[in-house]
Parts: sequence; structure tokens; C-alpha cells
Amino acid sequence: MASTVDGTADGTQDGVRRRDWIHIAALSTAGVGGASVLLPLVSQMAPTADTLAASTTDVDVSAIEPGQSIKATFRDQPLFVKRMTAEEIAEAVADDGADMRDPETLAERLGEGNADILVNLGVCTHLGCVPLGAGEGEDKGEYDGYFCPCHGSHYDVAGRIRKGPAPTNLAVPEFEFATESVIRVG
Ligand code: FES
Repeated sequence: MASTVDGTADGTQDGVRRRDWIHIAALSTAGVGGASVLLPLVSQMAPTADTLAASTTDVDVSAIEPGQSIKATFRDQPLFVKRMTAEEIAEAVADDGADMRDPETLAERLGEGNADILVNLGVCTHLGCVPLGAGEGEDKGEYDGYFCPCHGSHYDVAGRIRKGPAPTNLAVPEFEFATESVIRVG
């Protein structure tokens, strides 16, 4: 019997099998190729560290009454935003020249053009607990600001460390007034 072009005696059945295998092999190759193409695409779609670092938080401060605070989140960290009362401002300014571990004036912490909106990360600079003082009725510590119950750090009304183990003031993130009533943090 004469051989067919695919070298088999009857050609048809084996030829079909061979085409199936080529088809499957081609699909597998495409699958692997697809996966290797997809992975970078997926990782490109996830936010990069740079993007996360550049993310901002907008906080509407128009409804915050003097003496009130709100708790927000900035880059996965607690954020305390407070409108200071005239008394609190006077108390903070009176202490500007006090002997402090991390000297900073109230004006430096508020930033230019900002009279009364205090913005602090709610992260104790000792070991990272969330201090009390931003919520209604919470312990504000001995200096009318924030108190970290983990190891007893007392921050003053401007968020400056005054007593306890924390080495530095509560961090003030970069922020600006996006509008008259909204601050943009980050
Ligand atoms: S973490 Fe706040 S005092 Fe230690």
C-alpha cells in the first residue's frame, strides 16, 4: 500500500491525532505566553509604591467647630484634624518657647495661611500606638492635647511631645487648602 503524505498507512486517523496534538501544543504555548504577558500587566495595574506614596486625602473641614476633631485616614494611617479654639491657640503659643524635646512653634505646625486647623498623624512617635484625645471625651493627657496610653506619652494641644517616652512631636503631614473648606493631605 502506498504511504500517505503523513507517513501512515491510512493517514486520516493518525493525521487527525497529530493535528489535535499540534493544536493543543499551540494552545499550551499560547497559554504560557499569555501568562507571561499577563503577569507584568497585572503587576502594572496594581498601585506601585510610588503611586501609594503619592496618594492624597481630602478632608472637608468646614463642619468642624472650634475644639472639635475628626479622625480620617491618610495612607492607611490615622489622621487627626482639629479646629483649635482661641484658648487652645493661646495656650500653644504661650508654650512656644518652653523647654521641649522637639521644639516647634504652633505657627510652624499649622503652616502659612492657616490660623487654626491642626493636622497630625494619629501615630505615637514612640512605638506607633494611636493616641487618645481626638475623640469625644477621650483622655487628652496632662497638656490638653493627646495621650498615648501604651507607655504614657503626653502631647500638648499642638501635638508636641511634652512628657513620656515618645522622642518627637506627632508628625504633621504635608497638606494644603485645596479650597477654603477642604484640606488636601499628601
Ligand atoms: S507607643 Fe505611645 S508611648 Fe509607647
